[in-house]
Amino acid sequence: METPSTNEIRFLQATEMGLGAWSWGDRIMWNYGHGYSDDDIRAAFDVSVEEGIRFIDTAESYGNGRSERLLGQFIKESQQAVLVATKFTPYPWRLNKKLLLNAIEHNLERLGMDSVDLYQIHFPFPFTSIETWMDGMAEAVNRGLTRAIGVSNFNQSQMLRAYSALAQKNIPLASNQMHYSLLDRSIEKNGILARCKELGIRLIAYSPLEMGLLTGKYSTENPPAGLRGRRYGSLLTKLPALLKLMTEIGQDQGGKSLVQIALNWCICKGTLPIPGAKTAEQAQQNAGAPGWRLTEDQVNALDETSDLLG
Ligand SMILES: NC(=O)c1ccc[n+]([C@@H]2O[C@H](COP(=O)([O-])OP(=O)(O)OC[C@H]3O[C@@H](n4cnc5c(N)ncnc54)[C@H](OP(=O)(O)O)[C@@H]3O)[C@@H](O)[C@H]2O)c1
Repeated sequence: METPSTNEIRFLQATEMGLGAWSWGDRIMWNYGHGYSDDDIRAAFDVSVEEGIRFIDTAESYGNGRSERLLGQFIKESQQAVLVATKFTPYPWRLNKKLLLNAIEHNLERLGMDSVDLYQIHFPFPFTSIETWMDGMAEAVNRGLTRAIGVSNFNQSQMLRAYSALAQKNIPLASNQMHYSLLDRSIEKNGILARCKELGIRLIAYSPLEMGLLTGKYSTENPPAGLRGRRYGSLLTKLPALLKLMTEIGQDQGGKSLVQIALNWCICKGTLPIPGAKTAEQAQQNAGAPGWRLTEDQVNALDETSDLLG
């Protein structure tokens, strides 16, 4: 397989951690507007950027475009240099590349930008070929609308098809954004992570705190509200052993929090975690995750305990 030029995607390899903006405007999963406001989100943005977290992930579907609008507004008002990643949703009625090119114009309009750093396809869609989407993506690069191309939720064969389609146009596949945390290690076990490393595709780890479970604030007595509570009910019973080990490792690391251990573990595994943050406090704590490393023994101990959760 021909290896495409990697110059355009160096910024992703150089980024240790980012910030996820799904909760910025989303009511269905995150209950936006209840318990946190636009001011809190703005503070999360400001603190992250001040602390050097300058890669922010959003999507056209987050809050029906509200996440992109808020991000664009914050960047404009703060005049800060931020790397922006957003996503194309392959809705069933979007069946050709023209509709992708049309969609990216709308992403850019909401963000108030002429181009983004990374444009990702949110998930594969069975009725439109991966080659069709990659054709549209390549055209978006050629038109200067995005600097790099990524996929998300693509399994290994889908990712390789995207990689090959782009390689024929000498464009690298920059990233695959996948679920990855101490509570979901599928990409380690099914070979996707190893394949990404081999091909120079950055594995962007989403939900690295398992939607808040790895912060230690949720338990069987205090489950997260709404859809998250329903999704994670049974997992909460298995959590205490892992949280205890994370607490001990945090103490051995000079007082790192559970959040910092969970995110640093993702970094140690060679992925780029993008934890969500709704408030300045959350952003501040998350920003303490990069810049240092767990020891090999600590990573192994976390792996062993996470394996026991089955
Ligand atoms: N490509 C995809 O299909 C896909 C899917 C999911 C996510 N993503 C991306 O990945 C990003 C992150 O994933 P995620 O938002 O699902 O989950 P996450 O990062 O695992 O968890 C984020 C949530 O944990 C809580 N939290 C974060 N930092 C905290 C702290 N320091 N202390 C206490 N609580 C804290 C907050 O919720 P509470 O305060 O409400 O607990 C926050 O919204 C998203 O924003 C999005 O950009 C992509």
